Amino acid sequence: MASSSSPLVPSLAPLQSPSSSSSPSHSPFSPPSSILIIGAGVFGLGTALALARRHEFSQCSITIVDRSDPAQPGLFPARDAASIDSSRIIRADYPDAAYAALAAEAQAQWRKQANPSDLGAQGRYHESGLLLVADGVPPPANAPPAAAAAIDKAKLTGMDYARLSWANVLSLASDDHELANHIRELPDAAAIREAARTGGGGSGTWGYINHGSGWADATASMAWLFDQVQQTGRITFVAGTANRLERSGSTVTGARLADGRVLSADLVVLAAGAWTGGLLDISGRAIATGQVLGYLEITQDEQDQLSKMPVILNLTTGLFVIPPSNGILKVARHAYGYANPETLDTEPLPLSPLSPPSTHGVSLPRTHMSDPTSSIPPEGAEDLRRALHEMVPLPGLPDRPFIKTRLCWYQDTPTADFIVDYHPEWQGLFVATGDSGHGFKFLPVLGEKIADCIMGNCPSAFKDKWAWKHVSGETLEKGSVVTEDGSRGGLRRLVLQEELGKATAPQTA
Ligand SMILES: *[C@@H]1O[C@H](CO)[C@@H](O)[C@H](O)[C@H]1NC(C)=O
Repeated sequence: MASSSSPLVPSLAPLQSPSSSSSPSHSPFSPPSSILIIGAGVFGLGTALALARRHEFSQCSITIVDRSDPAQPGLFPARDAASIDSSRIIRADYPDAAYAALAAEAQAQWRKQANPSDLGAQGRYHESGLLLVADGVPPPANAPPAAAAAIDKAKLTGMDYARLSWANVLSLASDDHELANHIRELPDAAAIREAARTGGGGSGTWGYINHGSGWADATASMAWLFDQVQQTGRITFVAGTANRLERSGSTVTGARLADGRVLSADLVVLAAGAWTGGLLDISGRAIATGQVLGYLEITQDEQDQLSKMPVILNLTTGLFVIPPSNGILKVARHAYGYANPETLDTEPLPLSPLSPPSTHGVSLPRTHMSDPTSSIPPEGAEDLRRALHEMVPLPGLPDRPFIKTRLCWYQDTPTADFIVDYHPEWQGLFVATGDSGHGFKFLPVLGEKIADCIMGNCPSAFKDKWAWKHVSGETLEKGSVVTEDGSRGGLRRLVLQEELGKATAPQTA
């Protein structure tokens, strides 16, 4: 434990001052002597790696606690964590210029394949291209990219999202000759169908293809990241489930695990993804939402026929299909998702030391591990079918039974901005969560940015976006968080249990 003469973390006031990094009066960052990171996903593991590589932390002990045990083959990441399975879209196609730029930075790492130890090597990254489409009336062609700044992110439609992404990709391409050759506008359904290379492509009205985007193998990439972390020789892994944050006065002092062990540290970095709400009252700021996905087995012949297909993402519906690999085709939906409100056995850490315990229900993941009989609601399954019919209409394929379905749990924020900030009310607590279903692509760069924020030097483009937001009492009363960044399809405010209930009734009738 740090003594009172050496602050645990930089005092919060200077961090919040916009001029803090340049102000000569700002006291230099003084690293804590121990850090506990809760969660070994893209946020937590990436942060561990970045901290371990910084000389400022050379005297700091760094521990990660996670439900999964990385020493056990096949168990890491946890089998129901977000960043697992065969594929994640890797794109710099964002309507928001800051994320587009950060993703382009990550993309440069994904593309590295010359050595087996490079991130993109050994089949971890595939530059298949990404076809983005949307329905509706596109805004006038050549709408000035400046419109991006003026647009209210909270009111974006799928078409806005696609158009603004196009504007950002064009602007990235203006000083990237290679990218310029990689992108093409698709002004009508015929052009979209041709670019899909599946014989499908529906009737979307506008889109573009970016041959410089693609997909990555999530499990393999996480194993790569874990390997990088191991090589530092600096991180202690603890396998266990954190189920409470420990506190003393207004300071968070560590975490209590389900088996009763207590891990103490001067600074706790909470990076528990969709499970965050079980540990900390984050109501009004983030919510766990379940997103449907399904896998189909396909023949070698079908895989050959689809060998040229890009990732296809329909921003009007949120439905997307990833090119097949190893005889498996994946279809999924990036939507508003399902909430799963639960009552907790242990109260999450309240909003402040003086707050009463939260009375809000908390949405938490319900997965095949917490509930082995779980399936996906019929509403979601039907939508996945619709995507297959529209996007991959090979004979007999769209109606083939799924070999597996699952819910992928996002930690969604209202604007799809991450939350990467010191908690304003609790000393010793840093929050790194709110992936909003788009964190994975940042795997090679996000930890560095989080480490910058821990050191009080958050990138200026993200300082406000990633800040712990003030939320009005009225918003809290309304309860649920809905992500309105224009990328989501599907219906709003679906509750998992209700939707699952609709499953059994018609089928057994
Ligand atoms: C995208 O979804 C819309 C709405 O369902 C549909 O009309 C369109 O055909 C879809 N486009 C593609 C390429 O699947």
